Amino acid sequence: MFLRRTAVVYILLFFTAASSSLVAAQNSSCPLDFSILQPFKRPSPDGSTTCQYLLQGLRLVYSHHLRQTGSFSPPLSSASSCWDALQSSIAGFLPRFDVRSRCGFQTPWISQGCMNITTRSQFEALIPNSTLSTAVMRCNLSLESNTPCASCTQSLSAFQAYLTGASLGNVSDCTGFSSIYGAAFANRFGPTDKGTAKCLFLLDLASSSGSGSGKKKVVKILVPLFFILVVASALILWYYLKRKRDFKMRRMKLRQQRDSLEAGRLDSMSESTTLVKFTFEEIKKATNNFSRHNIIGRGGYGNVFKGVLQDGTEVAFKRFKNCSANGDANFAHEVEVIASIRHVNLLALRGYCTATTAYEGHQRIIVCDLVSNGSLHDHLFGDSETHLPWPLRQRIALGMARGLAYLHYGAQPSIIHRDIKASNILLDERFEAKVADFGLAKFNPEGMTHMSTRVAGTMGYVAPEYALYGKLTEKSDVYSFGVVLLELLSGRKAIVTDEEGQPVSVSDWAWALVREGQTLDVVEDGMPEKGSPEVLEKYVLIAVLCSHPQLHARPTMDQVVKMLESNEFTVISIPQRPISLVACREEIDRSVSSSSGSGKLTSPTGYQAFSFGADGPGHQ
Ligand SMILES: *[C@@H]1O[C@H](CO)[C@@H](O)[C@H](O)[C@H]1NC(C)=O
Ligand SMILES: *[C@@H]1O[C@H](CO)[C@@H](O)[C@H](O)[C@H]1NC(C)=O
Ligand SMILES: *[C@@H]1O[C@H](CO)[C@@H](O)[C@H](O)[C@H]1NC(C)=O
Ligand SMILES: *[C@@H]1O[C@H](CO)[C@@H](O)[C@H](O)[C@H]1NC(C)=O
Ligand SMILES: *[C@@H]1O[C@H](CO)[C@@H](O)[C@H](O)[C@H]1NC(C)=O
Repeated sequence: MFLRRTAVVYILLFFTAASSSLVAAQNSSCPLDFSILQPFKRPSPDGSTTCQYLLQGLRLVYSHHLRQTGSFSPPLSSASSCWDALQSSIAGFLPRFDVRSRCGFQTPWISQGCMNITTRSQFEALIPNSTLSTAVMRCNLSLESNTPCASCTQSLSAFQAYLTGASLGNVSDCTGFSSIYGAAFANRFGPTDKGTAKCLFLLDLASSSGSGSGKKKVVKILVPLFFILVVASALILWYYLKRKRDFKMRRMKLRQQRDSLEAGRLDSMSESTTLVKFTFEEIKKATNNFSRHNIIGRGGYGNVFKGVLQDGTEVAFKRFKNCSANGDANFAHEVEVIASIRHVNLLALRGYCTATTAYEGHQRIIVCDLVSNGSLHDHLFGDSETHLPWPLRQRIALGMARGLAYLHYGAQPSIIHRDIKASNILLDERFEAKVADFGLAKFNPEGMTHMSTRVAGTMGYVAPEYALYGKLTEKSDVYSFGVVLLELLSGRKAIVTDEEGQPVSVSDWAWALVREGQTLDVVEDGMPEKGSPEVLEKYVLIAVLCSHPQLHARPTMDQVVKMLESNEFTVISIPQRPISLVACREEIDRSVSSSSGSGKLTSPTGYQAFSFGADGPGHQ
C-alpha cells in the first residue's frame, strides 16, 4: 500500500517535471543567433581556452542581437533555451562539453547583465553624450589594424567609469557591455566584421580553407602509408633543426608569456590593447619641441608639458628625468597595468613613449588626459584670491576618496598610491577630482633598484609608519588622504612652522583643536557657502581620524567613502593619539599626567552611531 502510494507520488512528480519542462521548451525560442559564430576560429580541443571563447562568443552574439533589436540580452524566460541553443551550436566540435557546469555559468546569467540595463536607450542614458560621441568617432572605421583598435577600445573603456553598479554574473557583465555596445552601434561594420570581432571580442576568423577534416580523410585514403611515414620523418627532422635554431627565441617568448600570466595580464583580455605607444617624434611635435611655454608642472621626476595630438585632443606629457634603458620592459608593463585602471576620479593614462635619441639621451614619457582646472594645490595655496566654496570642496573630497577606494579595492591589481598630496589631485572643468600619478611613485629618478629601502612620498603627507619603518599598506594612503582633506578644509599647508620655528603638521594642529572641543575652528575662515556645522564637523573628524598616527586607528578608504556619503550624522570616535614627535616639554608633562584619562574622544555634538561593519578599525 505504502509502496504503491510513493510510486504514484513519483509518477506525479515526474509528470509535473516533464510538463513544466515542456512549458519551458514551448516558451523558449531563444532570440539569440548563435550561427553567426560559425565562421570564427574554434577553441583548441584541450578545453583550456574554451570558456574564454564562449564568453567572448556570447558577447559577440549579444552585440549582434543588440544591433538587430536594440536590447542587450534575451528575456529571462528564454534563459535555459538560450543555453540549449548555445550547447547545440558547439556540439559539432565540442561534444559532451557542458557549458554551464564547466565554465561556472548559472542559468539566469545569460539573460542578466549589468545594472539591469536592457535597452540601448537605458545604456545611453548612463553615459555622457560626449563620451558616447568620442567612442563613435574613434570606432566607426575598420578596426583590423592595431592603432584604430587601440584607440577604439580606449574610448570604449571610458564607459566603465559610468557602469558602476553591480554585474549580475560574468556572462554579460558590465565589463562586456562597452564592447557589446561599441560593436553594435559605434562601429559601422558591426560585430560580425572580421576586424571588429578581433578587436573587441578577440575572435579570429577561421582560415579560409574550409573543409579541413574532409581533405584529411581524402588524403588518408589516397596516399599510401609509407608516403606519410616519409613525410612525417622529414617533418620531424625539419622540426628538430628549426627547434634547435629557435630554441633561444622560444624560451624568451615563453618566459615573457609566463611573466605576463603572473602579472595577471592575461585575464585583462581587451585591456592590453588600450594603450597607445607614441613615438618621440609625435610627442616633440605635439609639445612644440618641449617648449618652455608648454610646461605646466615641474617635479623631482621631471617636467610636465601640455601638448596637442594630431587629432586635436589636448593632453599632458610627463617626461621623466635621468632614465636609462634598463628598466624599460618593466616600465612598459607597469604603464600598461596603470592604463587599464579607469575611474572617473582617476586621471586616465593614454599612452607612453620610450626612446633613445642622439641628443636628448634616453626618454621615458607618459601621456595623460589634460585637466582644465589645475591641481588642488594651485587652488588652495596658489596666488588666486578666490576661495573654493564649500560645495566644491565637498565634491573634491568625495572624488578623491572614491578614486583612492577604487585604487585599493576596485582595481586589478590593487595599487597603493604612495604619493598623495594636494598637487596630485587634479580638477577637471566640473571640479571633479582626478587622482594623478598612481602607480608611478616607484619610477622617480633615483631608480627602482632601492625600492624596498626607499620611501616614496612627500614630506608632511607620508604616514609615520611608512616614513620610519618603510611599512607600506593601504593605510599609508589613508593617512595622506587625511592630510589632504585637512588642507582642503582648513586651507592650511601640510606643514607650517610656528612662531618659534617649530614645524607643526596640519594633523597635529587639527587634533589639538578637536581635543579642545573646537572642531569647527579647523574649517577655513571665509570659506564661501559654508555647509551646515554638522557636516563640516563630520568632515573634520573624518580627516583627523584618517591622519591618525597609529595605523590601526585609520579607517579604510571604503569606510571613508561610506562615511562621507552617508547623510546620517554619525559619532566618529577618535582614539587618543600619542603626543607629537616634536612636542614641547609642557605637552609631554601634560600627557604624562593625564594619560589615565579618557582614551577616546567623540564628536561633542553627539549623533547616531556609525557602524563600521565587521572589519572596522580596531579589528584589523
Ligand atoms: C511563456 O511565458 C510567459 C511569461 O513568462 C507566459 O505569459 C506564457 O503563458 C508562457 N507561454 C507558454 C506557451 O507557456
Ligand atoms: C564565472 O564566474 C564563476 C564564479 O562566479 C567562475 O567560477 C567562472 O570561472 C567564471 N567563468 C568565466 C569564464 O570567467
Ligand atoms: C533588477 O531588476 C529586478 C526586477 O526588475 C530586481 O528584482 C533586481 O533587484 C534588480 N537588480 C539590480 C541589481 O538592480
Ligand atoms: C544627449 O543626446 C540626447 C539625444 O541625442 C539629447 O536628448 C540630450 O539632451 C543630450 N544631452 C546633453 C547633455 O547634451
Ligand atoms: C559611421 O560612418 C558611416 C559612413 O560614414 C555613417 O553612415 C554612419 O552613420 C556612421 N555611424 C555612426 C554611428 O555615426
